[in-house]
Amino acid sequence: MAFTKTYLVTGGAGFIGSNFVLYMLKKHQDIRIINVDSLTYAGNLENLISVQDDPRYVFKQIDIRDKDEISRLMDAEKPDYVINFAAESHVDRSISDPGAFASTNVMGTVNMLNCTMACWEANGGYEGRKYLQVSTDEVYGTLSLDELDSFFYETTPLSPHSPYSASKASADMFVMAYADTFGLPVNITRCSNNYGPFQFPEKLIPLMINNALDHKELPVYGDGLNIRDWLYVEDHCKAIDMVCSEGKLGEIYNVGGHNERNNLYIVKTVIDEVSKAVDDASINEDLIVHVEDRKGHDRRYGIAPDKIKEDLGWFPETKFEDGIKLTIQWYLENKEWMENVTSGAYRNYYQTMYGARKKA
Ligand code: NAD
Ligand code: TYD
Repeated sequence: MAFTKTYLVTGGAGFIGSNFVLYMLKKHQDIRIINVDSLTYAGNLENLISVQDDPRYVFKQIDIRDKDEISRLMDAEKPDYVINFAAESHVDRSISDPGAFASTNVMGTVNMLNCTMACWEANGGYEGRKYLQVSTDEVYGTLSLDELDSFFYETTPLSPHSPYSASKASADMFVMAYADTFGLPVNITRCSNNYGPFQFPEKLIPLMINNALDHKELPVYGDGLNIRDWLYVEDHCKAIDMVCSEGKLGEIYNVGGHNERNNLYIVKTVIDEVSKAVDDASINEDLIVHVEDRKGHDRRYGIAPDKIKEDLGWFPETKFEDGIKLTIQWYLENKEWMENVTSGAYRNYYQTMYGARKKA
C-alpha cells in the first residue's frame, strides 16, 4: 500500500494520543502512524487494541528524551509530521514532583525539536513537513470569576502557575524559538480540558465516574467553583488534524469549546447521569466531600477559539451535555478497562502482547 503521509506521534498510548491515533486511522485510509511512547503509568496499550495489527500502525516504546533512539527512528521513518503529545500531564503530580515535568515536558520537547530538525535537514528539508506541539490553555494562567466575559486569546501573555503549566509554557517557548531561530515549520495548539473515552481516572471526570460507581466519596477541591472549559476529545482530535494539514506555519491555535462549567456542576452532572444509567438512587450528592484545595489552584480557564474557527473552520461539535452522556456510557461499557487500570493490570499488557514477539 502506498502511504501519502507518515505521522510520528508521541504519547500515543495516553488519553488524547490514543484517541488521536484511532481517529486518524479511521478518517484517513492512506496514512501511516508511528506511535512513540515510553509507557509511563499514563500509557496504556489496551487503548489501541483495535489497531495493533493494522499495517498502517507501528508502536515503539521509546522515551522522548532519548536522543539516540529518537534519531535512529526518525532517520528510518523520515516522518512528514511530528506531533508531540507526550508529557507528564497531571497538575497534582506536578505539585509533588516538579522535576519530572521539567524533564519530560521541557527537555523531552527540546530533544524532539533537535531530532526532528536534524532528520529533516539530512533528508530533503522542511518543505511539506511540520512539527506540531500539543499544548494547553493552562499556560495562560487564570481568569477571574468576576469577569466571565474575558477569555484567553493566542496573544494573551503566558502566566503559568503550576509546575505543569510552567513546563508546558517553557516547551511552547522552545518551539517558537526553533521556528524563529532555525525556521523550523511548527504549529502549537493550546487546548482546554478534554474528556471522553480512555482518560486515566486521576483526572476529574473519570475519577468521579469511577468513584460514583463504587459508591466512594467524591472529593471536590476547595469550594468547587473553579471553572474549566470542557472539550470532547474527538473534537480536539479533529482540531489537531486540521492544524496539522492546514494550519499556517508558525501560528498558535487555541482550541476550546465555550463549554465552561464549574467543578461542582460537573460532579453533580456525573452523579445524575451515572445514577440514572445504573438505576441506583444511592449514587447521590451525599457522596460529595469538600477537601483541602489544590495549591495554586487556577480559578477559571476560558478559551476564545475564534482564530481556529475563522482561519480553519473548526468548531466544537459536541455539547457538554451530550459528550458527558457518551463518556459515561463508554465507561459503563468498558468496565474491564477501568478495572485493569485501577488494579494496575494494564501495565502487564505490553509484556503479554509484545514480550514474546520476535523482531521483524
Ligand atoms: P496522558 O497523561 O494521558 O498521556 C501522556 C502519554 O505520554 C502517556 O502515554 C505516557 O506514557 C507518555 N509519556 C509520558 N512521558 C513520556 C516520555 N518521557 N517519553 C515518551 N512518552 C511519554 O496525557 P493526555 O491527557 O493524553 O495529554 C496529552 C497532551 O495533551 C499533553 O501534552 C498535555 O499537556 C496536553 N493537553 C491535555 C489536556 C487534557 O485535558 N488532558 C488538555 C490540554 C492539553
Ligand atoms: P483535572 O482533571 O486534574 O484537570 P486540570 O487541573 O488540568 O484542570 O482537574 C479539573 C478540575 O477539577 C480542577 O479545578 C481540579 C478539580 N478536581 C477536584 O475538585 N477533585 C479531584 O479529585 C480532581 C482530580 C480535580
